[in-house]
Amino acid sequence: MTAPAADTAFFRDRVVLVTGGASGIGRAVTEKLLAAGAKLAVWDLRDDRLAELARTYGAQVLTRHVDVSDKAAVDTAAAEVASRLGPIDHVVNNAGIIGRRMTVRELDAAELERVLAVNLKSAFYVSSAFCRHTSDKPQRSIVGLSSIAARTGGMVGSIAYATTKGAMSSFTVALAKELAPAVRVNALAPGVIDTEIQNDVFADPKQIAAMADVIPLKRLGTAAEVADAAVWLLSPASAYITGVVLDVSGGR
Ligand SMILES: NC(=O)c1ccc[n+]([C@@H]2O[C@H](COP(=O)([O-])OP(=O)(O)OC[C@H]3O[C@@H](n4cnc5c(N)ncnc54)[C@H](O)[C@@H]3O)[C@@H](O)[C@H]2O)c1
Repeated sequence: MTAPAADTAFFRDRVVLVTGGASGIGRAVTEKLLAAGAKLAVWDLRDDRLAELARTYGAQVLTRHVDVSDKAAVDTAAAEVASRLGPIDHVVNNAGIIGRRMTVRELDAAELERVLAVNLKSAFYVSSAFCRHTSDKPQRSIVGLSSIAARTGGMVGSIAYATTKGAMSSFTVALAKELAPAVRVNALAPGVIDTEIQNDVFADPKQIAAMADVIPLKRLGTAAEVADAAVWLLSPASAYITGVVLDVSGGR
């Protein structure tokens, strides 16, 4: 069964910023919204993927190499989005990294800072820029990417990652209060999803089988399945939902 298409009547005149939108979940969200007629700004570090997006979709997408952990770069790029595409209506705070596998004892200050900056501080920088460059349209919304690692603690060796995802859940609830009633703010908490961030898991069929076994739906998820939930939370189909962190995890 194919997923319902995103609401084209709604998204046709919308400007959406997707961070980390060149691959994985962000890329799947980007493609669904482009298909629905939205104007997209995509920020990422993967220049090859950004170039391919620009070639495929032309002027409908503004692709930029932006490191979301760099506040000055975020501020400059957000001003450019507003001037080139128009005021920003929606944000998907999606860019994220797992970081090097390290226990709390091994974790050095530089690696801790990198994971905090990319996964968490970026959401502050991007959301703040959104507030300065947003439209006055009704039904604006933000979706962030938490993880079920916020409550499971993730795999041993990803303590910094799990901690940032726990904070993303708190950030979502707090920002939803700040921006209500004009802007809804929600987050997704995916389980294990088949994207490059999980390359080490997906390289090992035994690990895939072991992980699938503890998931009630007995399989890992796809980027498209997470993107469907993101598009739903962005759209007026979820108009009375704000401050929610929604698991997309096959029941885990
Ligand atoms: N895949 C999963 O199993 C899973 C589970 C739970 C949560 N998530 C979250 O979903 C989000 C998307 O992850 P994904 O699975 O699509 O991974 P991915 O690695 O496929 O995509 C992440 C994208 O973010 C970009 N990125 C990384 N650092 C950046 C930076 N500093 N500035 C700009 N862009 C940057 C990468 O280049 C990449 O294109 C992440 O926040 C991740 O933590 C993923």
